Amino acid sequence: MKVRQLIGYAALAVVAAAAVWAGRAWLAPAGPEPRPPVAGTPADLPAAIAHGEYLAKAADCVACHTAQGGTPYAGGRAFRLPFGTIYSTNLTPDRDSGIGAWSDDAFVNAVRAGVGSHGRLYPAMPYTSYAQMSRDDVLAIKRYLLTLRPIAGEPPANALSFPFDQRWGMAVWNLAFFREQRFMPDGSKSVEWNRGAYLATALGHCGECHTPRNTGFAMKSRDYLSGAEIEGWKAYNTTADQSYGIGSWTDEQVARYLSLGHAPGRSSASGPMADVVEHSLQYLTPGDINALVVYLRSVAPVAGASRAGATIDLDPSAARASNAVLPGSTLAASGMSRGERLFAGDCAGCHQWNGVGRQTEYATLVGSHAVNDPSGAALVQVLLHGTSLTVGGRTQQMPGFGEAYSDSDIAAVANFVLSHFGSKQGTVTAEQVSAQRSAN
Ligand code: HEC
Ligand code: HEC
Ligand code: HEC
Repeated sequence: MKVRQLIGYAALAVVAAAAVWAGRAWLAPAGPEPRPPVAGTPADLPAAIAHGEYLAKAADCVACHTAQGGTPYAGGRAFRLPFGTIYSTNLTPDRDSGIGAWSDDAFVNAVRAGVGSHGRLYPAMPYTSYAQMSRDDVLAIKRYLLTLRPIAGEPPANALSFPFDQRWGMAVWNLAFFREQRFMPDGSKSVEWNRGAYLATALGHCGECHTPRNTGFAMKSRDYLSGAEIEGWKAYNTTADQSYGIGSWTDEQVARYLSLGHAPGRSSASGPMADVVEHSLQYLTPGDINALVVYLRSVAPVAGASRAGATIDLDPSAARASNAVLPGSTLAASGMSRGERLFAGDCAGCHQWNGVGRQTEYATLVGSHAVNDPSGAALVQVLLHGTSLTVGGRTQQMPGFGEAYSDSDIAAVANFVLSHFGSKQGTVTAEQVSAQRSAN
């Protein structure tokens, strides 16, 4: 036997031993377990909605387990990671490719411990958050999924480079970064706060997008909800910080943003957050939205990189009626900068020069976090890909300009929007646009 081979086997043995050690907690027998009083569905749930369906929506399983344009829950959505691409799985009751033949324990283990049908799951599946769910809630979700129409079809095979294609490697990651902990109610806080905490952490997994990660891809708990980048978008700081977070938003603004995707005088939800509102938060009961607001108010303030937008105090109908043309400019004026000219031609029709949406308050730009972040990352993302949000049966649509505009066009209009609505000197360059363009 060659020495290299021996070393290889020795390394494998060490990792295997680590995996067995790490596995002990996951393989603990699933006996009855205490259920936190705030788990389950809320008291104000309309009778017509099944408990499992409500919880599946609150946990937003559909967002990831649906391919673009595909059947809900049939899986196949691609997740591009730095070391390759993985695909979400089929959660319909098909017995071969879905969860139709899964035992309760196997399902609970996948959702809360990250042990799937082929071994350890990658944390693109947020078991790191779902670990906090009660067993009853996970099984209610399973019962709901079993009522769906079975769809046959395996998602594409994962395409990961070595060594990341070795699922046992995740055992080592779990060992370093994952504690499988159930939600523990805090007796010193109100029932409402605890419900909000359960919704945000166990079900809604807000931190998976809003909390920055360390180099090992684990969430930095000290910077909880202080803002992070996700698929090129910025999941802003939602701590109670007054200038960087949402500390200065009113309760009503936070509640409206979460349930409708738009906070009057503040931002509209675009990109991944539009999906969260569309598939998940718009279905929460008023009591649960209120619980989330109460909880978010208490999140320790963390100063972050980009300040939130200043609020605007406009009567939208008056502002719409008096939409002045930008002072000192006419649309044909040659003195307009390139960005200003592009805005005049392609944006002002919907957004108006004063930034108050013409058809819909969702298109209001003033006060938005996106136009107040000099890096312009979210702005560029909206311009490249557009965004759409359907709430209560009404769709808000911002078209993408990625096809029509060159990188420098996008940089020019982004910098104009930043200086005009955010009063900030924009720093967007064509190189940045090009990088964001090729990232997704
Ligand atoms: C943020 C995206 C995301 C969300 C939200 C999400 N999943 Fe997943 N899930 C994935 C991905 C990606 C995989 C595949 C991971 C892998 O291959 O390692 C997966 C895998 C699974 C598996 C394992 C399947 C198998 O064959 O091993 C189950 C079961 C599962 N998810 C159930 C759920 C349920 C139930 C919910 C909602 C409570 C949910 N997921 C929410 C992304 C997500
Ligand atoms: C899939 C990733 C993702 C998840 C999960 C997520 N968010 Fe977001 N969130 C974002 C992104 C991206 C934005 C920025 C949206 C934009 O550019 O308009 C955002 C914006 C927000 C904002 C507005 C902040 C501002 O300054 O404009 C609030 C409030 C918010 N999220 C709360 C939540 C809460 C509460 C949860 C959990 C229930 C949650 N988010 C879950 C990605 C996410
Ligand atoms: C057909 C109407 C329409 C046109 C044209 C249009 N937009 Fe939009 N835009 C919208 C709507 C509606 C939204 C809100 C979408 C959502 O997030 O729900 C929006 C959202 C945005 C946002 C995000 C606001 C936030 O709070 O996150 C920015 C920035 C933006 N548009 C800039 C532009 C620029 C710059 C142009 C021109 C290049 C443009 N838009 C053209 C309708 C339009």
